[in-house]
Amino acid sequence: MINITTVVGARPQFIKAAALSRCIRQHFPDQINENIIHTGQHYDPGMSQVFFDELNVPAPNMNLNIGSGPHGKQTALMLEGIEDVLTQNKSDFVVLFGDTNSTLAGALAASKLHIPVVHIEAGLRSFNKTMPEEINRITCDHLSTLLFAPTQTALKNLQTEGFNLKSAPKYTIDNPGIFLSGDIMLDNLVYFDKVPTNILDQLGLAPNRFVLCTIHRDNNTDDPERLSTIFSAFEKIAESSLKVVVPLHPRTAKNLPGQLSQSLHQKIKQNRNILLLDPVPYHQMLALEKNCRMIITDSGGIQKEACFFKKPVIITRPETEWIEIVEHGCGIVSDANKESILKAYQHFLNADLEYPELFGAGKTAEFVLKTLLQI
Ligand code: UD1
Repeated sequence: MINITTVVGARPQFIKAAALSRCIRQHFPDQINENIIHTGQHYDPGMSQVFFDELNVPAPNMNLNIGSGPHGKQTALMLEGIEDVLTQNKSDFVVLFGDTNSTLAGALAASKLHIPVVHIEAGLRSFNKTMPEEINRITCDHLSTLLFAPTQTALKNLQTEGFNLKSAPKYTIDNPGIFLSGDIMLDNLVYFDKVPTNILDQLGLAPNRFVLCTIHRDNNTDDPERLSTIFSAFEKIAESSLKVVVPLHPRTAKNLPGQLSQSLHQKIKQNRNILLLDPVPYHQMLALEKNCRMIITDSGGIQKEACFFKKPVIITRPETEWIEIVEHGCGIVSDANKESILKAYQHFLNADLEYPELFGAGKTAEFVLKTLLQI
């Protein structure tokens, strides 16, 4: 029996953890014991508990209830809490997902206690170190013993940074192993794809008659100019025959009144073709993604889900880590620029696109767990 400790804290990590826990229950219940630490980075029920309930993630063994705060303080409190738990529990591996402050704190705590770090979603790079996520993922990768890259590009990024694709009798932090594993988010898409929801009826939406939009990155939500240009583009799109559906991250909801001019904010709120929603649960989000005409987002995960559901995606960031989507013409990096967003929107209304299979076969969790057991 091996003991793994999984550290989660933010919405996309609950989704990724669901795939791993499900695979342990289904295939390795007698070989792998999992402990889950929830840092409490995301704490609103709609950002956290709903995902545990609907994706059947086991309740965390420990919730550190850290909540939000400045990056340094938030990460420091998590580090202290995770170290305490890891000191008391015997873990053979600490498993981390993605690029959040919870990932960073987990990597620091575990590596200093000499517990091998397993990083799922390793090797992603935006080459933009003004993003907190870029700092987190680079640090986590370089403190990891086993790195699971979701794409060829991610694997190549690791090789460029000196990681070698080789098998070794023993992997250590100084002799780490890198693997091309596919993307664990796809495991869930494949598993939950057919779950029925009535979100379209509830919102009065018809298939293909709306654009799905999400904005949560701090460089968009905390910058009045960028947030205004993005929401002006939404307003322009809402003049067409398509509705604009925007599930709001709590920070975006909080910032809209202060960052947009009063008149733009009023226009957005009163526009009957723009639906500003609370964060939506996972199954409902999948239904919205599957039935929309196209997606506008600054989220990493939603870019991939767009590709899986064969929807074009406009990326409101200066760059993307999922470069393959753009290279295949299924995504356009518009940045926060109204003209570029509208140009991409027009382009995708008429485009005939082919969607490549970029993210594996939906069996990443099994691959990761088998690798851990072998090692
Ligand atoms: C974090 C991750 C990001 C990931 C995102 C998914 C970091 C640096 N960023 O960003 O990589 O894509 O999660 O959502 O770790 N808030 C609430 N309720 C909640 C959660 C957050 O109100 O349940 C508000 C708080 O005001 C908080 C703000 O949202 O200050 C930002 O939350 P935070 O955890 O700092 O990061 P995210 O922007 O969610």
